[in-house]
Amino acid sequence: MGMRPPRLADQLRVVALATLAAAALAACGGSESPTAPPVKTCQEDPTQAKCQPAVTLRLKDAAVASGRYFGASIYAGFRAANSATYDSVLSAEFSMLVAGNDMKWDAVQPARTTFNWFWADSMAAFAVSHGMKMRGHTLVWHNQVPDYIRNQAWSADTATAILTEHITAEVTHFKGKIYAWDVVNEPLDDNGMLRDTLWSRSIGGAWIETAFRAARAADPDALLFWNDYTLETPGPKQDSTFAWISRLRASGVPIDGIGFQAHLAIETGGGGVASRDTYIASLQRFAALGLKVELTELDVRLPVGGGGSAELAAQYQTWSNIVGACRAVAACDAIVVWGVNDGESWITPGDVRQPLLFTDGFAHKAVYAAVINALQ
Ligand code: XIL
Repeated sequence: MGMRPPRLADQLRVVALATLAAAALAACGGSESPTAPPVKTCQEDPTQAKCQPAVTLRLKDAAVASGRYFGASIYAGFRAANSATYDSVLSAEFSMLVAGNDMKWDAVQPARTTFNWFWADSMAAFAVSHGMKMRGHTLVWHNQVPDYIRNQAWSADTATAILTEHITAEVTHFKGKIYAWDVVNEPLDDNGMLRDTLWSRSIGGAWIETAFRAARAADPDALLFWNDYTLETPGPKQDSTFAWISRLRASGVPIDGIGFQAHLAIETGGGGVASRDTYIASLQRFAALGLKVELTELDVRLPVGGGGSAELAAQYQTWSNIVGACRAVAACDAIVVWGVNDGESWITPGDVRQPLLFTDGFAHKAVYAAVINALQ
């Protein structure tokens, strides 16, 4: 991508980009003398070397202290293009890996009889060689599917066969290498109704049960997750998801966990922040069913165009609240951010929404400190 990797020494420091790292900044006063050039305070310029506290704890180490994993999703191609720096940040900071795209249906089975494991395998190999757990994302989703499963009018039997075939092939291929699979991704719509997809049209709601059972049969040791967005706060979608999972579990469908994608957004002026207690209540609601609960795609976006101090403060608080909520719930054993640096985020490429923990140049952002603190 044409960018020069930063020196390792630079990576070892938190860059306080905003006015937010209050604790760090408070220590940095400035003094002016009539003879010397004016010295800037850290408040005026938090990027000065004197204002950058050393990173004493990495994400994965802060997480493992309470028995948790801290992961990131990555794109194999992006990683290849950024090679050494990228890999060193990944292995230093993260204990879990997720393929952002490379394990999706269109990537691994572009035609019914064609499988392409190359990129996904390269990621699994990286995870294994660095002692990282891998989440498998995702077996069945309505997006990023190949043409042969678009707009078909299949019988229930044909659809069930094709669904089972895909799940069996993928789970079997990675057997023993995946900690948890996102078996179904976003199966309900924004109102909590069964999403209208090829699978629901052909099979009805039973497609979900079919998917979980096929995954369990192919790898009895992998944890099986239901993964979705906007479940972090109460509402009809959370209620409906709760009802669905309760019912399926009661009838013996093998669902081990629920993934809260946690794509969170700050509004102009700093609104949109839910409290730590709100997030805790959401996680606990599902944990009470006996499920593991994980934050599977966490990012916290600013409004389009970036943000001023109110928005940055709200972003900092949100990172703190959501990570702190996971820390407070025993069943929340993993936190995964959806990308490593702002430049690779999936959120409207080109928008300045700074949703992740590292800058484009892999420097630690102020929000990194919020996460480290919340993990402790
Ligand atoms: C996103 C990827 O990050 C993008 O690169 C791709 O273009 C679209 O999908 N919810 C999910 C993820 O479950 O798979 C999505 O990933 C983001 C939203």
